[in-house]
Amino acid sequence: MAIEFSERIRRIPSYPAAGGYAAEESLVRLASNESPFPPLAQVREAIDRACGELNRYPDPSNSLLRRRLSERYGVPAARIAIGNGSCDILLAAGEALLEPGAELVFAWPSFSIYPHLSAASGARAITVPLDAEARHDLEGMLREVTVATRLVIICNPNNPTSTAIGLQRIAEFLAQVPEHVCVIVDEAYCEFNLLDDPDASIELLDANPNLVLLRTFSKVHGLCGLRVGFALCGSDALPRAVDQVRQPFFCNALAQAAAVEALAHGAAVEDRVARTVAERIAMDERLRALGLEPAASQANFCWFELGAERDEEQVMNGLRERGVLVRGGSALGSPTPALRVTYGTSQENERFLEALAEVFAQAPAR
Ligand SMILES: Cc1ncc(COP(=O)(O)O)c(C=O)c1O
Repeated sequence: MAIEFSERIRRIPSYPAAGGYAAEESLVRLASNESPFPPLAQVREAIDRACGELNRYPDPSNSLLRRRLSERYGVPAARIAIGNGSCDILLAAGEALLEPGAELVFAWPSFSIYPHLSAASGARAITVPLDAEARHDLEGMLREVTVATRLVIICNPNNPTSTAIGLQRIAEFLAQVPEHVCVIVDEAYCEFNLLDDPDASIELLDANPNLVLLRTFSKVHGLCGLRVGFALCGSDALPRAVDQVRQPFFCNALAQAAAVEALAHGAAVEDRVARTVAERIAMDERLRALGLEPAASQANFCWFELGAERDEEQVMNGLRERGVLVRGGSALGSPTPALRVTYGTSQENERFLEALAEVFAQAPAR
């Protein structure tokens, strides 16, 4: 007889992670919105130094990292949560806020972990379709807020569609949401968003105790392999609640040391953002030359429809055969054939564009 698992486990969707390749394969990896730039030398040195202390447990309160984040962002340390990646904070927030009878509102397609929160807790997920420009429909989301709503998630810029909405609209949304509803603005890609200064949303925190800005060291800092994220919050309620539902020592010592060091190199981060934005402009232009219409990206990745006449899987396989990994839209909630492609280095992007042109030439649209 097979092991019998809980009803909860049967409900939880598995995370559609990109993968299926050997680490040593020389592939162009544009499937996971990673940074193409390796960690900074100073960050690697900080990790090396921390290795000598690995016989000790990490600081359970992440005090140095929270202090540095507090100095950098001007948010009191008690209002900052740390996580084993920002996903850890999301899942813990779901556990702390949701239960059967409660409701969770988010846009769709959006980040594939959000449905996990409702499935794991038994809460009801209310998904609101993106608008015609693949952006959040905040008015539509507001209409779905009821007395049962505990959590609203806004992904800005949105994964997988790369689009962002202006901060003014988020501020107006917050003004209309009841204060008992926690609003998480998932800002994993905010440094790449040129619509608003990434620090501007922080100014909303004081007036909105229910607001949580979710951020990560995985993307712009290029540390996704270490797993460290954080949340800047309007009050200390959420940081306390997520700490209650997690194991102690949820953020490892190397991740804490690396994140502290990464925060000291703002200029390098800005330089990397500028390089990614330059690639974004160049690549979107080339995609348009191929007859595609990439969404208005404010992230480190692009999103485009392939058109009903193209077979998404065939295009993905063609790219894979040419050593290029991207994500297919159907695995990410798109009802129509689409691709999500991370902006890599210019050489990587060139390899992708050449491969895409070849695949299109080999299998022209029907
Ligand atoms: C929108 C969004 N939020 C959060 C994350 C999670 O990042 P991490 O757990 O690595 O901090 C991702 C990762 O791809 C993401 O796309």
